[in-house]
Amino acid sequence: MQSTTGPFDAKGHWENIHRTKGLKEVSWYQAIPEVSLALLEEHQVRKDARIIDVGGGDSLLLDHLLQRGFSAITVLDISSAALAKARLRLGERSAEVEWIESDATDLTAVEPFDVWHDRAVFHFLTNDQDAERYLRRVAEFLRPGGLLILGTFSDNGPEKCSGIPVHRYSEAEMVTRLQSICERIKCITVDHVTPFNTLQNFLFCAFRKRA
Ligand SMILES: C[S@@+](CC[C@H](N)C(=O)[O-])C[C@H]1O[C@@H](n2cnc3c(N)ncnc32)[C@H](O)[C@@H]1O
Repeated sequence: MQSTTGPFDAKGHWENIHRTKGLKEVSWYQAIPEVSLALLEEHQVRKDARIIDVGGGDSLLLDHLLQRGFSAITVLDISSAALAKARLRLGERSAEVEWIESDATDLTAVEPFDVWHDRAVFHFLTNDQDAERYLRRVAEFLRPGGLLILGTFSDNGPEKCSGIPVHRYSEAEMVTRLQSICERIKCITVDHVTPFNTLQNFLFCAFRKRA
């Protein structure tokens, strides 16, 4: 449970969400993660590319990637409950996936990835030190020339997600924040329709990691 005193317990918060909410009971649920899949297709990501879905939770992106023949997928999440749900859903196919239980800002000792995908995780890092720690992991573990796909709430999006504050990004702020590590390829904004029929405006940016 989230503490009412002391520093925010991100792991406790997310374990609680994943233990108590079903797949379609969370605002970020998508049956088909169309924008993420389209960006991967547009950039002609190879089927054997090392792809990490950071804060993938029990998102169905993984299922769609496996269906499309991607063979080197890693899912990272701070919550063991999230990873357990995804593994259970996939059954035998879960053995084809690498699973990492970690705070994204603490990721350590992995082979570099060709693609780093994050939908609705980076925006929870509302203080600069945490956001910088996250970006140092991108600098370290996304290979030069690799593709970074970042989806956050846009500056027209909600101020909170799962009951906690987020940092909303304009395209200009996102590109400036990433500029020492990555070159912007494209950014789009898109409305996500939640299972509760509300709209959340997202900013999705694709970046190329600098050499
Ligand atoms: C809003 S959900 C988005 C889930 C998924 N990316 C999607 O688009 O459906 C945020 C996810 O990020 C995970 N998460 C939150 N903070 C994290 C962090 N610092 N490191 C790793 N995972 C985190 C949560 O457990 C949760 O699964």
